[in-house]
Amino acid sequence: MSIIESNLDEKRSFSPREDHTKDANFTKKDLLRLTKQFKNNRNKTWSDLAKSNILWDKSFNDVISGKAPFYKWFSDGKLNVSKNCVDRHISKNKSAIIHISENNKRKVLSYSDLYIYINKFSYALRKLGLTSGDRVIIYMPTIPESIVAMLSCARLGLIHSVVFAGFSSIALRDRIIDCKAKAIITVDAYMRSGKIINSKEIVDDAIKVDCEFVDNVIVYENHDALSSKKTKDVLWSEILPREEKYIDPVSMSSDELLFILYTSGSTGKPKGIMHTSGGYLLNCIITNKWVFDLKDQDIFWCTADIGWITGHSYVVYGPLACGATILIYDGAPLYPHSNRFWEIIQENNVSIFYTAPTALRTLMKVGENDPSNYNLESLRILGTVGEPINPKAWMWYFETVGKSLCPIVDTWWQTETGANMIAPIPSINSLIPGTCTKPLPGIDVAIVDINGEELRDPNQGGDLVIRQPWPSMLAGIWGDKDRYVETYWSKYSSKYYVTGDTARYDEDGNIWIMGRSDDVVNVSGHRLGTMEIESALVSHRLVAEAAVVSYKHEIKGEAIQAFISLKQSSKNKSELADDLRQWVSLKIGSIAKPERISFSDSLPKTRSGKIMRRLLRNLARGEDITSDTSTLENESIIEQLKKIV
Ligand code: WTA
Repeated sequence: MSIIESNLDEKRSFSPREDHTKDANFTKKDLLRLTKQFKNNRNKTWSDLAKSNILWDKSFNDVISGKAPFYKWFSDGKLNVSKNCVDRHISKNKSAIIHISENNKRKVLSYSDLYIYINKFSYALRKLGLTSGDRVIIYMPTIPESIVAMLSCARLGLIHSVVFAGFSSIALRDRIIDCKAKAIITVDAYMRSGKIINSKEIVDDAIKVDCEFVDNVIVYENHDALSSKKTKDVLWSEILPREEKYIDPVSMSSDELLFILYTSGSTGKPKGIMHTSGGYLLNCIITNKWVFDLKDQDIFWCTADIGWITGHSYVVYGPLACGATILIYDGAPLYPHSNRFWEIIQENNVSIFYTAPTALRTLMKVGENDPSNYNLESLRILGTVGEPINPKAWMWYFETVGKSLCPIVDTWWQTETGANMIAPIPSINSLIPGTCTKPLPGIDVAIVDINGEELRDPNQGGDLVIRQPWPSMLAGIWGDKDRYVETYWSKYSSKYYVTGDTARYDEDGNIWIMGRSDDVVNVSGHRLGTMEIESALVSHRLVAEAAVVSYKHEIKGEAIQAFISLKQSSKNKSELADDLRQWVSLKIGSIAKPERISFSDSLPKTRSGKIMRRLLRNLARGEDITSDTSTLENESIIEQLKKIV
C-alpha cells in the first residue's frame, strides 16, 4: 500500500541531443557494461573504479568491511586526499581556481600556485602543533584561502569541519564544542551584499566561555578589519612561511576521517556527519565525470558555499580531484545587481553551472533579471540540487538560461550520501522537468511501503531507501553512534539506509522526490506530499514561493495551510486566496486545496535555502517555536508570520 498519493502529471520530455552524446565521458555502452558488472560482482566493480580513479599510496584488498551499519570502505588502503586533488595535476600547467570577489576582483590560481600555497599553510599548521586526527573548524567565506585551509587539513590528516560563514555565534559555538576543535581558521571580515560581516568578532563571541580546548584562532586578513589581537589569535600572514616549503602528504587509511560536516538543521539538533577519505573521494570523482561530464577544458561553477556538502563535493574535492578548473564567487547572487550570475558566466566562459532551485526561483522573481541580455553560449551543462525543482523553474532554467541546448542534471543526494545518488547522465537519460530520473550505477535505491515492501508500480509514493552500502556513505554521526543507527537504519530493522525522503516512480521508471517523509499531510485519509501542492502553487503566475504544512482539523483530520510569497503585491488577498484554491483544485484536485492561505514577504529559510517547514508547522498549529532560529537566513520574517497566522 502506498504511503503517499501522487497527483502531479508532467508530460514534457527532452531526449539527449547528439552534442550531448558525442564525446561524452559516460555513454550508454558504459552504462550497460557497468550495470552488468555491478550485478555480477559488486565489490569487484567498486574496487576497479577505486583503483582507476584514485591515486593510492598503498592499494587495498578489503573493499568493504566492518559490522553493519558501520561499514568501512577500502580500509587497508592508504591515500592522501590533497595529493589526489593537487599534487597529481601540477604538471598540467593549468588554472585550478578562478576567484571572483563581490567587488569584482578576479584572481586565478594555477595548480602549481595552489600546491605551493597548500604546502606553506600545511607547514604553518604543523608548526602550531596540530597533528593527525585533531579537529579544525573553518569559518570562512568561499575564497581561495578557505580551500587552501581544507586541503592543508587533508594533507596533514587533520579533520576539518567547515561551518557556513553566515551562521551565528551560537550555531558556531555548538559545533566547536561538539567536535572539540583544537583550532579555528577564520577571516577578520568579509563583504556580503555590500555590508561588512565581522567573522572574527563572531568567533570571539562563540569561544568566550568553556572553550579552553581551542588552542589557536588563525585569522586570514581578508579585509584589513582586525582591530585587536587576543591571546589565542595568530595571523595567517605571520605564520605563513615566506619561502617555499614541502610537506609530505600524510598517508591516511581510507576509512580515517576527512571531515565532519554538521547538517543544516532544518530538523532538530545538528548532526556531525562524518566522511572518510577513499570512499568519499571515489563517488565525488565518478559523479563529476558521469553526471557533469566534467572534462579538462571545462570551467565548473558550482554556486554552493563551501559550508555545505555541495561545496565540499562539487566545488572542492570532486572537481579538483578530476584536475578541473573551478570558479568561485564570494558575493551575494543579487549584488550589486540581479544579473550577476549571468555576467560572471559570460565573462569567464563558465561551461558547467550548478545551483539550487531556491536561487533560480529568486532570480525568476526579480523583474529586471534577464539572462537573455547576456552571452551564455559557453554553457553546456546545467545542474540543480537541494530541493525538488518545480517544473516551472526547470523550464525557465532550460529555456531562458540554457537556450534549450543544455541538459539539466537534477541531482538528488544528501550530506549523508556524500555525492550524487540519483541523477541523469546527460548522454543517456531523457529529461522530464521535476524528476531526478534514475539511480547512478552501483546505487541500489528502492521505494518501500510501511512494511518495507518494495513499491515498484508507478505513482505509488513511499519511503526512499538505499539497500546496499556505497563508498561515499557517511561513516556515522560524530560522538553519537546510537543516533546514527536510530536516524538512518532503525525504521526498517537495519535492512536499509533510510533517506527520510518520500518518492515515487513514473511509468518510465524515473524517480520523483515527493518531499521529506515528515512533511506528508493527511487530509481526509489521503496522504499528500507537500511538494506537489507547492509545485502547483508556484506554477501560478503571481506566486514566487510556497510552503505547505498541515494542522489538526476536526473534520478532515488534517487540513492544509499554505504560506505564500508573491512576485508583486496584490491588493485583494482574499480574492487571490480563492483563486489559488481553485488553481490547486484544477492542478491536483480539490482534496489538495489549502484551507488557510497566509501571505508574507518571504518564507523562513535555512542558510542553504531550504524552507523550514517545521517552524511553519509550529506556527500553523499554534505551538511554540522549538527550532533554533538563529540559523535562519531571514530571522525577522518570524515576527511578520506570527502576526498574520
Ligand atoms: C533534498 C544537499 C529533490 C532532499 C545535497 C534531501 C532534493 C535533502 C534534491 C538533503 C533534488 C536534495 N530533488 N530533493 N534534486 N537534492 N534534496 O543534506 O530532501 O543539504 O534529503 O544535501 O535535500 O539536503 P542536504
